[in-house]
Amino acid sequence: MSNVAKPTANAAQPITNLKGRVVVVTGASKGIGRAIALRLAQEGCALVLVARSERLLQTLVDEIGVQAPHAPPARIEVADLSDPASCDTLIPAIEKACGHIDVLINNAGITGRICPLHESTTEDIRRTIDLNLTSPAILTARTLPGMIARQHGTILNINSIVAKTSYPNWGPYCASKHGMHAIAESVTEEQRGNGIRVFGLYLGAVDTPIWDGVADSTGRSAMLTPEEVADATAFMLLQPESVFIPELVLRSMAFGL
Ligand SMILES: NC(=O)c1ccc[n+]([C@@H]2O[C@H](COP(=O)([O-])OP(=O)(O)OC[C@H]3O[C@@H](n4cnc5c(N)ncnc54)[C@H](OP(=O)(O)O)[C@@H]3O)[C@@H](O)[C@H]2O)c1
Repeated sequence: MSNVAKPTANAAQPITNLKGRVVVVTGASKGIGRAIALRLAQEGCALVLVARSERLLQTLVDEIGVQAPHAPPARIEVADLSDPASCDTLIPAIEKACGHIDVLINNAGITGRICPLHESTTEDIRRTIDLNLTSPAILTARTLPGMIARQHGTILNINSIVAKTSYPNWGPYCASKHGMHAIAESVTEEQRGNGIRVFGLYLGAVDTPIWDGVADSTGRSAMLTPEEVADATAFMLLQPESVFIPELVLRSMAFGL
């Protein structure tokens, strides 16, 4: 009989090495997306940074070059993701430039106008749903065929605790996050056999520009920081490929939400 220990079914697997992995981050110009990009650059990811502001994205690329000189140069894609046609063309353009996509982080989002539903305009409602729900659905749909062909990939949705509970004055925003959760559940089961994982990070309040004009500085100082969210994102993506994190909830101890 051999003395060599056989690996057991649940033997620990090494953490995933993210070096050189092609990671698309939507809404990378500010707030959470920006912090995630800076954190993943430290892991050596080949980042594709998406937002409308080319100036802010270029500033971020320069900062990545200084903070993570070992990382591959980050690529910029300027796109208005509230336009479904832009979402449709974005993923093929990235695949053409980068060869493939390892990780899609659906992060871009807006609160929309915070008010009772009867005071919302049709345009307010449409824009919030288009950016927060239709856009990640299209980007995921267009990204999956490449991942299926490679039998590998991770979709990481930056979601919110409002995906499960609705608050007054935030109807379209809550609906968009409930919808993102619903699509994630469907895709998880559709793709489980293809080695593709759908991760969800469900956040309480995070101090980012999304709160400008909504919350005062005292309230904001009690919120999570974008860097704490970025660390949680890196934690999820560094797990072995055998590990699936459908939901990770991150909230501030000090803030109510
Ligand atoms: N902050 C929170 O308390 C909190 C809590 C739970 C969940 N979240 C979610 O976290 C995500 C990021 O939020 P954040 O707080 O970081 O917000 P943020 O600071 O306002 O940043 C939003 C990002 O989305 C981009 N964006 C906005 N409209 C866009 C459009 N039409 N097309 C392409 N990109 C667009 C912005 O870039 P450009 O303006 O340059 O386009 C920016 O990079 C959102 O999905 C949000 O719902 C946030």
